[in-house]
Amino acid sequence: MRMYDIIQKKRDKEELTKEEIEYFVSEYSADRIPDYQASALLMAIYLNKLTLNELAYLTNAMANSAYKLDLSMLKREDRYIIDKHSTGGVGDKVTLIVLPIVASFGVEICKMSGRGLGITGGTADKLESIVGYDVNMPLEKAIEQVKEIGLCLISQSGDIAIADKKLYALRDVTATVESTDLIASSIMSKKIASGAEKVLLDVTAGSGAFMKKVEDAKILANKMVELGKLAGIETRAVITSMDEPLGRCVGNSVELKEVISFLLSDEDRLFADDIKDLREVVFEVAAQMIKLAGFGDDIEINKDAIAKSIISGSAYDKFIELVKAQGGKVQNVHLDEYDTDVEMPVLKDEVSYLKEITAEANGTIVSIDGGKIGEALVCLGGGRNKKEDIIDSAVGFEFKKKVGDSVREGEVILNCLFNDKNKFNEAFNYIKDAITISYVDDEKINELQGKPYILDII
Ligand code: URA
Repeated sequence: MRMYDIIQKKRDKEELTKEEIEYFVSEYSADRIPDYQASALLMAIYLNKLTLNELAYLTNAMANSAYKLDLSMLKREDRYIIDKHSTGGVGDKVTLIVLPIVASFGVEICKMSGRGLGITGGTADKLESIVGYDVNMPLEKAIEQVKEIGLCLISQSGDIAIADKKLYALRDVTATVESTDLIASSIMSKKIASGAEKVLLDVTAGSGAFMKKVEDAKILANKMVELGKLAGIETRAVITSMDEPLGRCVGNSVELKEVISFLLSDEDRLFADDIKDLREVVFEVAAQMIKLAGFGDDIEINKDAIAKSIISGSAYDKFIELVKAQGGKVQNVHLDEYDTDVEMPVLKDEVSYLKEITAEANGTIVSIDGGKIGEALVCLGGGRNKKEDIIDSAVGFEFKKKVGDSVREGEVILNCLFNDKNKFNEAFNYIKDAITISYVDDEKINELQGKPYILDII
C-alpha cells in the first residue's frame, strides 16, 4: 500500500477502504508516514469529507492506536459507566460543576479532560489554578481514587488514542481543525478508548465555540451520536449556546471561583437570574448524565434532585473531596454571605492590576462576542496560542453585565484582571470589539433576555 495512492483517491472524491484508513493511522502513529503526506490527506478529507463508513473506520483506527482503558471493575448491576465531553467554549466550566453533582448521586466517573488551545479553555488548566492539584495522576491511581471517592478528574492520558494526539497537532498547523469529520473522529476515538458504556456530549454553538453555527453543531452532534452507536456506546448530545461567554467569569482562577460559588449556592442564589445561562446548561447536562448512568429516568425529577444536592452542600462536599484527593490545597474560610465556615481550595489568583471596562454609551448590550473575549484572554496570557505556552492562571474577566442588560455610559461592564500592561493594551482591542451596545425596543430586550441556552437534544 502507498500513501500517495490513498491521498490521490481522497483527492478524487473516492471512498477509502478500511484497510487504507487503518494503514494511514497505524503507519502515521509509528512515524513511518511523513507529516507532508499526512497533511495532504487531512486537507483532502477537510475539502471532500468522509462517508459514514470512512468516518467509522478512522475513529476506530484512532481509538485502537494505543491503550484502551478498562473500567469494567467499576461496573454495577443496572448502572452504567458514563463519560462526558464538551466541544468547549469561552467560560465553559460546566464539567467542573457537573461532575461533583453527578458523583454526589453515587455515579462513579473517571474523567479525562483536555488542555485549552486557542480561544477555548481546558478543564485540566482550570484545575491547575488550584495550588497543588495534580492533573497528571497515572491511570491506575486514578481508578483507585474512583473506587474510593467515586470521582477523578485528570488530564487526557498520553497513552489514549495516540494517533489523535499526533493528528490534532498536525491539524492545528495545517488549517484543518474545523472539519466536522475530523473533530467527530478525534473526540469519539478518545471516548471509545476511555472505557465508558454511555457518553453525554455537550456540543457548543456560537462565536465562542468551534462550531459558529447551530446547524454545524447539529451536524457534528449527529455524526458523534452515530459513531457512538456504531461502537456500541449509547451517546446523547445536548446542543448548547456559546455566543456570549458562559457564566460571569472567563479565565482559569476566576472560573474556579465561579464554580465554587455555584456549588455553594443556597436556594435563592441557585435560582437567581444572573446565573441563568450557567444553571440551565449545568442542570440539563447533569440530568442527562444521571439518566444515562441509570440513576433516574425522568429528567425533570433529576433536575429537582440536582438542586437538592447543591442546596444541601453534598455536591460541594464531593468537589472538596476531589480537590483534596488530587493534592489540592484547601483552607477554612468564613462566608459572610451565608455566615458559615467552609473548606475552600487555595487558588493561584494574585494579579497586579484590575481595570474596570466601562460602557461607552447608554443602551442595551446586544452582543458579547465570545470568540473575541477568548482572544483577549489569550492576549493576557490566560490561554494558549501554541501547545507549549505556559498559562497565567490568575488573569481573566469578571462580567458585571451580560447580553440583554441595559447600561449607562461609564457603568462597569466587566473587570479585567491582568499582570502585564502591554498585554492588557493588546487585549483591550478585542474586548472593545466584542461588546455591542445599541438602543433597542422592549420586544428586542425581551428576546435577548429570554434566549434559550439549550438549543437541541439529539
Ligand atoms: N476537541 C477534540 O478533542 N478534538 C477536536 O478535533 C476538536 C475539539
